[in-house]
Amino acid sequence: MSQPTLAEITPIIKKAGALALKGCRSLNQLQVTEKAPRDLVTEIDLQVEEFLIKALSKLDKSIGFFGEETGQSSSQERRWIIDPIDGTHSFVRGQYFWAISLGLEIEGTLRLGAVYAPKLKDLYLGELGKGATKNGLPIQASKVARLDQAMVSTGFACLRAGLENHNLPRFSRIAQATMGQRRFGSAALDICLCADGQVDAFWEQELNLYDIAGGVVIAKEAGCRVTNFAGEEVLNPKEVLVTNGLLTKPLVTLM
Ligand code: IPD
Ligand code: CA
Ligand code: CA
Repeated sequence: MSQPTLAEITPIIKKAGALALKGCRSLNQLQVTEKAPRDLVTEIDLQVEEFLIKALSKLDKSIGFFGEETGQSSSQERRWIIDPIDGTHSFVRGQYFWAISLGLEIEGTLRLGAVYAPKLKDLYLGELGKGATKNGLPIQASKVARLDQAMVSTGFACLRAGLENHNLPRFSRIAQATMGQRRFGSAALDICLCADGQVDAFWEQELNLYDIAGGVVIAKEAGCRVTNFAGEEVLNPKEVLVTNGLLTKPLVTLM
């Protein structure tokens, strides 16, 4: 059975980006709600998800949806996994690091990924077995093989979830062992920066599938390894470790 192509979804995710950028022009009038403690959603998140569902349905009505804001539609065998704005906190403050993330999962396998950062004007695309690109040019994970020369990124969804076993002690261990550390505020983008060799590893606990579905296709196609904190090649949104493939082992000892 044929599947939609990256060429077909590119204009759609770009239009969604234009919709989100329009929202940036009136941030102080935006309707912002706290859907859970320290977890914001805006009317733009909802509008972008609605736009994506409508536009993607026109490509192939038989493909279902799993969206952060509207949940799961009936058919889940083949589904689009959508985070309409990943990095909403950054979005509402007028910052640059937020993205629209789209993954296509067919019978449990993630096959297409698209992550678009409208303010950065960066579109990351990946297709299973066919490579990954940024703005149309091939991308590759870095070749940094030593932790003390590595730049890493992470996030703190675990604090928002009130987890006992949270990321701060882990961050402290890893920060003391690495060259540089970043907290960009968008897990989807964090993963794409790893695919693009801008960082050498990313890890986070307590994410959701829609935060990472688009990015992990891109990252794997760019030569990254995606594992849990034990270094097992499983996709567990609650425990995600993405590296350039050379740093998984040393990082696992510090997780
Ligand atoms: C958030 C971002 C952030 C991560 C949070 C996510 P959202 O996504 O990915 O980097 O640390 O855990 O919830 O909520 O803005 O879609
Ligand atoms: Ca998200
Ligand atoms: Ca979101």
